[in-house]
Amino acid sequence: TRTDPVVEAAVARHGASPLATLPVLRDIQGNTGRPLDRATLGAAADALGVSDAQVYGAVSFYSLLAVAPHAVRVCDGPVCMARGGAATHAAVQSAAAGGERAVERCSCLGLCDRAPAALVGLEPCGPVAAENAAAALAGPTG
Ligand code: FES
Repeated sequence: TRTDPVVEAAVARHGASPLATLPVLRDIQGNTGRPLDRATLGAAADALGVSDAQVYGAVSFYSLLAVAPHAVRVCDGPVCMARGGAATHAAVQSAAAGGERAVERCSCLGLCDRAPAALVGLEPCGPVAAENAAAALAGPTG
């Protein structure tokens, strides 16, 4: 059995049941900022009594679970695009150049009221005007 103290603490909070798969994974990621790597997912599968495939399936289906803690996702949905999202994306990308944050585009984040919007790690940000891109990148996980 693969064990991990962080995984075990999360399972203790949510229950050792297949139904707790998502809450446990979100707990691990949210409370530790730890990437959901192979060892973590294996320990979670054993602690939850599910197969590795079920845990990997949850992570790949709910793509936010797979976000690396330092990734930045800039929305390219229609509302954000209408409010300067392209300039925001370019500014975020150049502010991130050479740093450790990966920048990717994503579809609507459900933050249209904060357009142009981004996720810095799992933290919603917006509006992110192009001139504020560097500050947004510094975000709470930076
Ligand atoms: Fe960007 Fe909805 S279109 S958050």
